[in-house]
Amino acid sequence: MSFKEVDTIAFDDQKPGTAGLRKSVKRFQTPHYLENFVQSVFDAVPALKGDTLVLGGDGRFYNREAAASIIRMAHANGVQRVVVGQGALLSTPAAAHLIAQEQATGGFLLTASHNPGGPDGDFGIKFNVAGGGQASAELTDRIHAISQAIERYWISELSLPSLDETGQHEIDGMVLDVVDPVSAHADLLEAQFDFPRIRQWLSEKPERFVFDALHAITGPYAREIFCRRLGAPMASVLNSQPKDDFGGGHPDPNPHDAAGFVQGFRKTSGAELGAASDGDGDRNMILGPHRMVSPCDSLAVIAANHDCIPALAGNLKGVARSMPTSRALDEVARSLEIPCHETPTGWRFFASLLEGGHIRLCGEESFGTSSDHVREKDGLWAVLAWMQMMAARGLSVDELLEAHWRRFGRHYFVRHDFALNSEQGEAVIQYLGKQADQGHPDTESPGHLMDRFHYTDPVSGHRVENQGIRLSCPDGARVVFRLSGTGTKGATLRIYLEQPVPADGDWRRDRQTVLAPLAQKAAEVAGLKSLAGRETADVII
Ligand code: G6P
Ligand code: ZN
Repeated sequence: MSFKEVDTIAFDDQKPGTAGLRKSVKRFQTPHYLENFVQSVFDAVPALKGDTLVLGGDGRFYNREAAASIIRMAHANGVQRVVVGQGALLSTPAAAHLIAQEQATGGFLLTASHNPGGPDGDFGIKFNVAGGGQASAELTDRIHAISQAIERYWISELSLPSLDETGQHEIDGMVLDVVDPVSAHADLLEAQFDFPRIRQWLSEKPERFVFDALHAITGPYAREIFCRRLGAPMASVLNSQPKDDFGGGHPDPNPHDAAGFVQGFRKTSGAELGAASDGDGDRNMILGPHRMVSPCDSLAVIAANHDCIPALAGNLKGVARSMPTSRALDEVARSLEIPCHETPTGWRFFASLLEGGHIRLCGEESFGTSSDHVREKDGLWAVLAWMQMMAARGLSVDELLEAHWRRFGRHYFVRHDFALNSEQGEAVIQYLGKQADQGHPDTESPGHLMDRFHYTDPVSGHRVENQGIRLSCPDGARVVFRLSGTGTKGATLRIYLEQPVPADGDWRRDRQTVLAPLAQKAAEVAGLKSLAGRETADVII
């Protein structure tokens, strides 16, 4: 026999968060830590035996070691074929697509998304199911339960061929396919859009587009799609060489973590559309010369202009947004007379609606936007959507936004993040929960309502509770409170602030100024000063 059974002891911290198991690299380097979790997945998904598994990651530190262990465990657990990206690399949307294309039973995605990498950074592992979507809450619970009682795992003792060259290998009865990580995903995207039209738009003014890959996984994808297939100059893709520590940066495309790019972009003469993605390529940020497009607005603008995008034109049967995301999308859905679903935070809730055929477009405030071409969010898809809208309408980023607000009104939106310790985080949420249970805030706020958000998935019937607390104000403003599910230390309280103004109202103001009074009210209602000694947010996005 070419594999061995290894005795192990369960770890008590293997409960996956919003998107998989994320811990420090150091934690993952604890002997048996990765293997325990991977074996728990093999035990929870017996159909993997005798079937195909997809594997790849965002190239962060520990990616290669983890990929090698998983291939050896796949062999020992009877997987028939492993499809792995060359260099053990795959962006998250590319991995999801490959799972669907190869009709695999599932896939391991090695990523901690936008969390920093390197030996002192974070690592993560996520299991996606057949079709490419994230594991359901039930499957995640099952994997977690198994990880709590695990006593042994199986791993092959064979040595592996290099993953740096594409090609097919046979390893003691198992097929190992090392594939180009980029081409299938680039083909998929090309099929969604009118590439000749975008190519022409770029050729009219090659300096109009700049993309920052932040030294993360999208570099090779961006070079292939924007430069080779669409003719953008190579210089328009910045930081395109993936690094295992993302060049020491924080690969999150938002105005806080990618502030350097935002400033540089504003100074680049002739640049009209700026964009960036995150560590694993599923997030996106869209910039115009004068402003960042709020992800909530981006989603609504794409919905309103979906007829520019060939794959969506004439057939946008439904849309969805996560609950904290502004209700700008709802206005568009109302005018299109299509359903608009409100889901808990976490892409898997969208995947279920996509899989069930309820929606074709979805997105969230955390810089995620995508369509039904794949079951994960797709950063480059969103960038192409903006290029396509600009090319088809002949409008700038600002003009597209203003035309939208003039028609649908504007939902001013901002998110305040507070880095608290776990006890403070718990105390604030409990205090808010108590007020929600009485239906209104403890303060003098006539007409204000508070509730907890619960959700029943219309496809699976599965119900999840306590997915955030909402404060609704009489003028239509809304505040949402929840704890982040992706952090690896302490508790991050997120406060989402939204103030709608109608089409004939003043939608030209600065969003921070508009939302300052609501931010103050939210901090009061959350008891931030007394419970956590805090008055101002650590990060404003
Ligand atoms: C990941 C998921 C997203 C989700 C986000 C929320 O990126 O893929 O679907 O919106 O996490 O993060 P949070 O830190 O707010 O739980
Ligand atoms: Zn990500």
